[in-house]
Amino acid sequence: MTNVPPGQAPPDPFAPAVLGPVRLRNRILKAATFEGMSPANKVSSSLIEFHRTMAAGGTAMTTVSYVAVSRDGMGAPAEIYIHEAAADGLAEIAEVVHAEGAKISAQLGHAGAVGLVRGKRLLGPSKTRTIAGVQVQAITRAEIDEVVHQFGAGANMLAAAGFDCVELHFGHHYLVSAFLSPKWNKRTDDYGGTLENRARLARRILVTVREQVGQRMAVIAKLNMTDGVPGGLDPADSLRVARLLQADGGLDAIELTGGGSQANQMFMFRGGAPRKEMAAVLRGPQRLGFRLAGRALLREYPFEEAYFLPLARQFRSALALPLILLGGINTTASIKSAMAGGFDFVAMGRALLREPDLVTRMSEGTATSGTCVHCNKCMISIYSGTRCVLDHPEPPAIS
Ligand SMILES: Cc1cc2nc3c(=O)[nH]c(=O)nc-3n(C[C@H](O)[C@H](O)[C@H](O)COP(=O)(O)O)c2cc1C
Ligand code: SF4
Repeated sequence: MTNVPPGQAPPDPFAPAVLGPVRLRNRILKAATFEGMSPANKVSSSLIEFHRTMAAGGTAMTTVSYVAVSRDGMGAPAEIYIHEAAADGLAEIAEVVHAEGAKISAQLGHAGAVGLVRGKRLLGPSKTRTIAGVQVQAITRAEIDEVVHQFGAGANMLAAAGFDCVELHFGHHYLVSAFLSPKWNKRTDDYGGTLENRARLARRILVTVREQVGQRMAVIAKLNMTDGVPGGLDPADSLRVARLLQADGGLDAIELTGGGSQANQMFMFRGGAPRKEMAAVLRGPQRLGFRLAGRALLREYPFEEAYFLPLARQFRSALALPLILLGGINTTASIKSAMAGGFDFVAMGRALLREPDLVTRMSEGTATSGTCVHCNKCMISIYSGTRCVLDHPEPPAIS
């Protein structure tokens, strides 16, 4: 849908809707919030309970995140990566979520230069160093082909496991996002330089994934509208990427995001910058470096309700594809204004981390606003089991 035509009522966010081949019970999705509950790199009982709770709370579709296409693609420890031993657990979690009346998606991606995980190589479009000074290798053309293949194989495994949707991670400075970005992509072959070249990897992945899954599941992409860093992908170029993806025809929706994990991390979140908590989980020289440079590394942005809406409106008016609005959605009023502005769905992260049953209460009219205070202390909980640490200060036992 594009903007709601004058005189026509916007859709009811709490009524059923269609996302590609999937029928959803409403238009409110649980955004990807990495759970840190997979110490054996596959679905754990704790992960199942996390998503069962989200499903029971009324969201139309919960997102398992993040699922790496390979070990090199991991972004953090205790993360699922696609391998044969992960298949049974994926089927189990899909069944449990379905039993609660919700659909299930998985965010599939390659973290590229993000994340320090034992046994993982840091890969980017070009040779560089991370902010912490760690070497990033330039991915070879043969490795690019392998990554494209891995996305297809991963999506196929998810479809076979009964997942309803796959969310391709094209944002947050991860590998595909870094290819799109002139800041990190300095290649001189046909994957670098022009926007068409920088978008080649994203487009190849989309085509391959759609070929693999057909209409067995919805395919969506999480795309940066801006990288939030000087020299990064800007909104004009991002819109051109979105148009190319739209023209390729394999996408059921785009989820609009911004910023990322390689630099200026708080751009993505807004609200409190949990510097003290971040320093506490780092070790040795990294901790010292962060203590000295934390203010610059975690620059603070004041929280605003639906903070990506002004930028996302530019995408809404220029694209025909269904769009998912994300970023600081906390109230029934902003969900309704997203619908009135022509967005087809909204995705909520922190609001549902704090109150998994918020969607049900909003639909019943017993809540009109969430209670998340955007302190962002849950960011650090990804290392011990993702949760709202205000309500659950102690890490859960992961089983
Ligand atoms: C603890 C935590 C973990 C997150 N993990 C992911 C992730 O794995 N993948 C992703 O694309 N975004 C991740 N995000 C970002 C959210 O998907 C979302 O873009 C961001 O929180 C803004 O939405 P919100 O205001 O509704 O929380 C994470 C956010 C939080 C708070
Ligand atoms: S810790 Fe809780 S209140 Fe703070 S941002 Fe996360 S979910 Fe919201």
